Amino acid sequence: MNRDTVTLRDNSTDREVECALLKGSMGYPVIDIGQLNRDLGCLTYDPGFVSTASCQSAITYIDGDEGVLLYRGYPIEQLAQHSTFLEVAYLLMNGELPNAQQLDRFTDEINHHTMLHEALRKFFDGFHYDAHPMAMMVGVVGSLSAFYHSELNMEDPEHRRISAMRMVAKMPTIAAACYRHSVGWPFVYPRNDLGYCENFLNMMFSLPSQQFIEREHYIDPVAVKALDLLFILHADHEQNASTSTVRLASSTGANPYACIAAGIAALWGPAHGGANEAVLNMLAQIGTPKRIPEFIARAKDKNDPFRLMGFGHRVYKNFDPRAKIIREMCHEVLNKISYSDPLFDLALALEEYALKDEYFIERKLYPNVDFYSGIIYKALKIPVDMFTVMFVIARTAGWVSHWLEMMDEPSRIGRPRQLYTGPTRRDYLAYSKRL
Ligand code: CMC
Repeated sequence: MNRDTVTLRDNSTDREVECALLKGSMGYPVIDIGQLNRDLGCLTYDPGFVSTASCQSAITYIDGDEGVLLYRGYPIEQLAQHSTFLEVAYLLMNGELPNAQQLDRFTDEINHHTMLHEALRKFFDGFHYDAHPMAMMVGVVGSLSAFYHSELNMEDPEHRRISAMRMVAKMPTIAAACYRHSVGWPFVYPRNDLGYCENFLNMMFSLPSQQFIEREHYIDPVAVKALDLLFILHADHEQNASTSTVRLASSTGANPYACIAAGIAALWGPAHGGANEAVLNMLAQIGTPKRIPEFIARAKDKNDPFRLMGFGHRVYKNFDPRAKIIREMCHEVLNKISYSDPLFDLALALEEYALKDEYFIERKLYPNVDFYSGIIYKALKIPVDMFTVMFVIARTAGWVSHWLEMMDEPSRIGRPRQLYTGPTRRDYLAYSKRL
């Protein structure tokens, strides 16, 4: 018997099917159940995809039990210490770290694509000033598809590469425009002489009335470094909800800008990228360390919808390696910019309390990346409702890498099946005969 197979047996009919056991370069082996329906006449049931691999991918590896995160094989800790966001974006998209010349060319090309079509800028006028920036992001990024559709040949790898570069390049410009629209400030054009994060901070905070002020006034190098690090940590996370959404939408052959907009919509939810905003709102709601026990009790109460935001993760059941890096960075950033935030002290107290609680220990619920990221964004003067938008900028590098990977190989349309629980067949009843 071939040892690299798994036999599934239907005990009600004694029918069996032998499925191949696929082994990747690392991680759990995977049972190939593609023939299950044909050979055994049944489907698998796995709500939330807890035990289901939806694709093959060579981009990111996570070992949730050991708290390991690798981008293209490189540990996140090493990338956080030595790399930059644009270098990481190159790595994710191309598979290898760039040499100096490749990185220069990549950076130049990103700079070349940072501008928005003037007509696209008018889209913002359709939003009320108090529209949530994530709502604007979904709408404006989705409408990029109207600007880049007819001339886009999805069969051409170079066309696909340029689309991916455009998205990484334009995302900070669109994100900053969302913020400027909400505060009624004029949009700032991107500047090619600034680095990726510097440029974003300039587009966010510079004012035409302050041209005479040194650029260091609003582009603090500590802020630039912190932002770059946060972008590295958020750049990719294998088949999470938003990346899977991008893949599913893309499997139909849809326009890539529209697919990325779908990913942005999925990221917005508080169980995913919206958690960083939810953490800050939760800390504000708790208000003082005295009220921590009350909120911990609520988080444990199954009749109360309240959950401890920034705690728990589908894959990490030991610790989130990104949270470890960010926690240290919080101390460093707050010290360097001499910013003291009572919410950070409250977060530390909450973390300490929860980590000693049996409920959280038993369920292996640890602080995740978003427990701390909001505190740093707040220290960098990024408004709370822009936190998830920051996540979008970073995760775009991951989304487009997955899109490029899947478009490079023949893939089938994503089409999950279901366990039907509705009425069985019945005949239409005339209106007059219904009770
Ligand atoms: N507070 C209280 N209880 C929790 C929490 C929490 N934050 N997270 C999980 N649990 C409990 C849950 O009620 C369940 O208990 P029981 O076994 O008694 O029914 C158990 O822990 C397992 O939870 P689950 O809901 O089955 O876990 P999941 O893998 O489906 O959900 C999660 C993962 C991240 C959605 C969830 O932990 C959560 O909602 N956390 C808060 C939101 C958050 O911080 N999200 C950011 C994730 S990191 C950023 C990103 O990658 O998007």
